[in-house]
Amino acid sequence: MDLREFKRLTGEIMVTAYAGIAVFADVVLLIFKMLYYVVESIFWLIFPVEEKNVSGEVVLITGAGHGIGRELALQYATLGAKVVCWDLNENGNKETAEEIKKINETASVYTYRCDVTNREEVIRVAAEVQRDVGDVTILVNNAGIMPCHTLMDHTPEEIRKTFDVNVIAHFWMLQTFLPSMIKKNHGHVVALSSMAGIAGLPNLVPYCGSKFAVRGIMEAIHLELRDAMLPKQLNIKFTCIYPYMVDTGLCKKPKMRFPTLFSLVPPKTAAAEIVKAQRRNVQEASIPSVFFHINNIFRNFPDKVPLLVRDFLDSGVEAD
Ligand SMILES: NC(=O)c1ccc[n+]([C@@H]2O[C@H](COP(=O)([O-])OP(=O)(O)OC[C@H]3O[C@@H](n4cnc5c(N)ncnc54)[C@H](O)[C@@H]3O)[C@@H](O)[C@H]2O)c1
Ligand SMILES: *[C@@H]1O[C@H](CO)[C@@H](O)[C@H](O)[C@H]1NC(C)=O
Ligand SMILES: *[C@@H]1O[C@H](CO)[C@@H](O)[C@H](O)[C@H]1NC(C)=O
Repeated sequence: MDLREFKRLTGEIMVTAYAGIAVFADVVLLIFKMLYYVVESIFWLIFPVEEKNVSGEVVLITGAGHGIGRELALQYATLGAKVVCWDLNENGNKETAEEIKKINETASVYTYRCDVTNREEVIRVAAEVQRDVGDVTILVNNAGIMPCHTLMDHTPEEIRKTFDVNVIAHFWMLQTFLPSMIKKNHGHVVALSSMAGIAGLPNLVPYCGSKFAVRGIMEAIHLELRDAMLPKQLNIKFTCIYPYMVDTGLCKKPKMRFPTLFSLVPPKTAAAEIVKAQRRNVQEASIPSVFFHINNIFRNFPDKVPLLVRDFLDSGVEAD
């Protein structure tokens, strides 16, 4: 081996060794950061994160004319936010605004009729909101429908509509309202998925598909914007909510073996949990919160174990 060959070889070895050390250092750093965040999250469990001030924020809620959406509108108004109520049902929406004004005369509340499945209408009404109120800084995609019978009994129109309202509308809303949030790197998007978006349920095949989709959409858009904002830190937050059964009338025939354990949650309580999760920048939360963790645990067992748990709890919805 001559000297040149020797130098070339040692050079190569050093480059490889250096790359190896760099990866090793990366892994060590990664592990330390992971440990740090675990400790941090334990800390936040004991001393809960302070809730964000939403006073002066413009909160748009779809489906604000009834149920969870109405309660969300009431609670955000109480917190001093400007509340923009969208619903297909004008009367329901008006009632929401009246209820808010009854509690608080000085509250800012605006109502608009909008079918969120109609892209042109979303864009047109959004322009009105921009004129009347300003940029929306908190978007709550809440409107949803839930046909409840076997897949074979669903009409094609029902299946399409379930996806139009529960999924496609989210794309129109995100495409319309994210640009102003991105420009200011400030905002929050909340979506109503469901426990049916985490675990499949009989009589809800299209609905479950639509709610699983919401979960994927929320995770993907978060990561996409996080990348797009680099090297700056993304300051648009995403919160995906998975309620089990809320007493709004949406769930017509709930079935439960242990009603005390799985009682229908009052819409007021559900809305309070959602507002709390949003103000604490929680990314995912079920209502009741323990369901999310129970699901995560049992999914790691062999297939037959979660089935046993399902059969034991014997809870779901019957066909309407
Ligand atoms: N109630 C429950 O048990 C439960 C459980 C899990 C998840 N969720 C989800 O929470 C959300 C709210 O549910 P809820 O029980 O308050 O429902 P709800 O039926 O009480 O209210 C929904 C509102 O959305 C409106 N809406 C429907 N289609 C619309 C459209 N195309 N454009 C605009 N508005 C429209 C309706 O007019 C209604 O006012 C839904 O996404 C639902 O899937 C509810
Ligand atoms: C919240 O923000 C508003 C407006 O930005 C401000 O007037 C108010 O004092 C703040 N409240 C708290 C508790 O920080
Ligand atoms: C009433 O509305 C104002 C203005 O939005 C708000 O600052 C205040 O906190 C509200 N008060 C109550 C009790 O809801």
